[in-house]
Parts: sequence; structure tokens; C-alpha cells
Amino acid sequence: MKILFFGTKSYDREFFEGPDEKCPDVEITFIEPNLSPETARLAEGFEGVCAFVNMDLSARTVDILHKCGVKLILMRCAGYNNVDLEAAKACGITVMHVPGYSPEAVAEHAMALVLTADRHMHKAYIKCRENNFNLSGLMGINLHGRTAGIVGTGKIGAAMARICRGFGMRVIAYDMYPNKELDFVEYVDFERLLAEADLISLHCPLTKDNYHMINEKTIAKMKDGVMLVNTSRGALIKTEDLIQGIRDGKFFAVGLDVYEEENGTVYEDMSDRILEHSTMARLLSFPNVMVTSHQGFFTKEALLAISRTTMDNALAFVQGRKNGNEL
Ligand code: NAI
Repeated sequence: MKILFFGTKSYDREFFEGPDEKCPDVEITFIEPNLSPETARLAEGFEGVCAFVNMDLSARTVDILHKCGVKLILMRCAGYNNVDLEAAKACGITVMHVPGYSPEAVAEHAMALVLTADRHMHKAYIKCRENNFNLSGLMGINLHGRTAGIVGTGKIGAAMARICRGFGMRVIAYDMYPNKELDFVEYVDFERLLAEADLISLHCPLTKDNYHMINEKTIAKMKDGVMLVNTSRGALIKTEDLIQGIRDGKFFAVGLDVYEEENGTVYEDMSDRILEHSTMARLLSFPNVMVTSHQGFFTKEALLAISRTTMDNALAFVQGRKNGNEL
């Protein structure tokens, strides 16, 4: 099977071409452009394509892929809200993903965002390098003894809950399907989580039902001085309302690994360009906001697991075997 690998970065090659990942039945061609309606035609002559979270797999793209003869879309990630599954199903294209490749990678990054924003590590690093050992502007708050509110306690949320417990926090959570393994977690409704949590960490997938679940109304229900972290999907938060909340002094710290309008920005070097989106420019202007570039997944362990599972997905498709990663 010939697979066209869109949006290739050096680290993708390193892991997908690694000795463990060689698979004689699957031949990969690596190209740099991201998959979108404009680039989908490049898949002519390929049976499969491999894509990532930041690409556009809307009905238009899927339709072009179908006309090119593509039968398999391999998402080398867990989330798939950017894929029009209905459109893929309608034209008989199988979509597979990599669930739970390393929940700890994302949860540890969520906690890194909390600690960085809370204890102003980004500022302390620069100040010390400039021989400025003054502490003004660096005061944080203890996590120990405070309440962490986890929204979505699947694989990543559960890992985050364990980390928060390790920090001596009381952990409460909201999920329609409570995770029975988390016996130290108290499940509450969303309203109570908003009202009681000192740290709110989002770990649910983006669906039609929870689009903009963090908005003016829900922000108003949060404690003053709350910390908010999003490593899940940008559109869970209505950015304009978040910006207003930050301006109003509602948040002690905000950590965002994902944000609305991230497509076109994440994974690209934009250092010599003028930022197109004013929302991003405004977010970056706040001293208590820490932004990273959708990199929660980015550890050696996670990339190895992603490459292995993606190759197994391709192989399972070739062999007509179901391995549970079909969407
Ligand atoms: P999972 O499927 O194991 O868990 C998701 C949990 O969220 C489930 O328990 C589900 O019942 C719950 N849930 C669904 N809708 C909800 C809602 N409206 N409110 C509360 N809970 C809700 O998923 P996993 O592996 O834990 O991943 C979670 C999300 O993390 C992914 O959907 C993806 O968006 C994001 N992610 C981010 C990465 C990054 O690099 N920043 C990397 C991988 C995933």
C-alpha cells in the first residue's frame, strides 16, 4: 500500500522511518504541505494518506481524496474533530486514529503550563539571564491544598487527576461517564466544578455539544483568581470571552496549548511574519497567559507510540483486520 504523508516535519521522518517502523507492505512518501482542499490532489495514485490535527479534512478534502482513489485516512493523532467522518463514510473511506498513545505526555504538559504560568517561570528565566534577581512580579500561589477541577476523565484527564493528587490537591471532576479507577476523585456537575475549582483543566474532546463550553457565562461562575488550562481543543473556549475575563482580572493564570484559529499557525515558524489573528496577539500580550504550540503530545515516548500504532493501522487495513482504531 502506498501512503502519502502530509505535513512532514523532521521528527516525523525520524520516527516513521525508524528501524522498528519499517513495514514491507506499506510504502510511505513524505511531503511537506499540509492536507487541505488545495493540496488533496497530490494524493492521486495513493491508496492512503496520513494527516495530523492541524489539517483540513472537511467534506471538500475528503471528496477530492475519494476522486484520487484514496481508501484510507490515517490520523497520526488521537483527536479527529477536523475530519468529516460522515463524508468519509459516504464515499467508503476508512478513517483510523491513534487513541491514548501517551496520556501522560499531554497531562505532564498541562501541569507544566500550570506551573509555568503560576510561578512565572517564563519571566524568571529571562530576568535571571539578565542579572535581575529581583522577585517583583513573580509571586505564585500554592497548588497544595487547593482544588483541581478536571473536565473529562478519560485517559489524559485521569493522568492529570493523578498528577494533581500528587501535588496534594483535592481533585473534583466532571464527566458524563465517571472513571471508576479514580477512587480519589469526587465527581460533581459542571456548575459545581466551576464554582469550587482553583485550577480547571480541560480534557474532553471537542464535540457539537461542548463547543465554547468556557464562555462569558461559565467564566462568571468560576472563582476569582482561578487558573485555567486547555490542552484539549481550542474551540472548547470562546477566546473573546476568555480575553475579557483576563482583562477583568478573573484569572490568576491561563495556560493554552490549543486555541481557536491555531490552524495555519501551529508547527510553523512565523517569526518574521506579522500575526494575522489579533486574538492571538492579545493573548500573547497578557503576563499571566502561557501559550504553547499544540505540543502536549510531543515527547519521544508519544511519537514512538504514534508511529507504531499508525503503521499497525495501515497494516490492519491491508490485511482486512479490525484493530479497534477505526472511527
Ligand atoms: P478519552 O476519549 O480517553 O477521554 C475523553 C473523556 O471526555 C471521556 O471520558 C468522555 O466521557 C469525556 N467527555 C466527553 N465530552 C465531555 C464533556 N462535554 N464534558 C466532560 N467530559 C466529556 O480522550 P483522551 O485521550 O483523554 O483525550 C482527550 C482530548 O485531548 C482529545 O479529544 C484531544 O482533543 C486532546 N488531545 C490533545 C493533545 C495535545 O497535544 N494537546 C494530544 C492528544 C489529545
